[in-house]
Amino acid sequence: MEVIVKESFEEMSKAAARVVAKVLNLKPNAVLGLATGSTPLGLYQELARMHRDEGLDFSQVTTFNLDEYVGLTRTHPQSYHYFMQENLFRHINVPQQNIYIPSGTTDNYAAFCQWYEQRIRECGGIDLQVLGIGSDGHIAFNEPGSSLGSRTRIKTLARQTIDDNARFFSGPEEVPVYAITMGVGTILEARKILLLANGKKKAAAVAAAIEGPVTSMITASALQLHRDAMCTLDREAAGELRMLDYYEWVQAKMPNAP
Ligand code: GLP
Repeated sequence: MEVIVKESFEEMSKAAARVVAKVLNLKPNAVLGLATGSTPLGLYQELARMHRDEGLDFSQVTTFNLDEYVGLTRTHPQSYHYFMQENLFRHINVPQQNIYIPSGTTDNYAAFCQWYEQRIRECGGIDLQVLGIGSDGHIAFNEPGSSLGSRTRIKTLARQTIDDNARFFSGPEEVPVYAITMGVGTILEARKILLLANGKKKAAAVAAAIEGPVTSMITASALQLHRDAMCTLDREAAGELRMLDYYEWVQAKMPNAP
């Protein structure tokens, strides 16, 4: 896994945006896997700025979001549909018909999950998957214990995730208990993966994901099995990495690598 440590959230976000832009420059009709949460907000702001100021073009891009709360309509202010519209899609030019987000209000989740997986395949698979990480080490809503081969399905949220995400709702009792989420197996099929993490409260999860054993108890650790996974961190999120000096050495030596 390539580990890149930046001094601040802003620098981390800009580094991540450069990775996305590079993928789009090489493949203007790339399929992007997108994440929600506070972590990718800086990345989305920077992509919006690059679109506005530098003409970064999304007109041929297709996007698939990782997850959605079950029971929230697309106009609910805490739904991931609403989040994506407000924080990214209304600022860039991805065609609406190319945007896919799991439905939180379908009457047949099993069929929807199958269709979602099929749509990803029909669109050629995900070229770049953006990920955040939960404080319990989850990716998307793959809570501890999720099969590392799991596919898009309904998950029951862990108590810790409900408590973490309660800050966006009026209280923990308002947070939905279920979510529809891409599986770990679905995520691992992306051609390239970009995990972002910032802040002290992610440091333990980040260290477990990058340097701990591969385990379904920390679903982000499955990224160790991926051949093109990159992790962009701010200094605080990197705070518990044992090999931090080495990662920085690798980055410093990169320009002269044969
Ligand atoms: C939620 C999302 C994850 C996200 C995580 C971290 O649980 N399903 O995709 O990575 O929150 O959120 P934040 O970036 O707000 O810390």
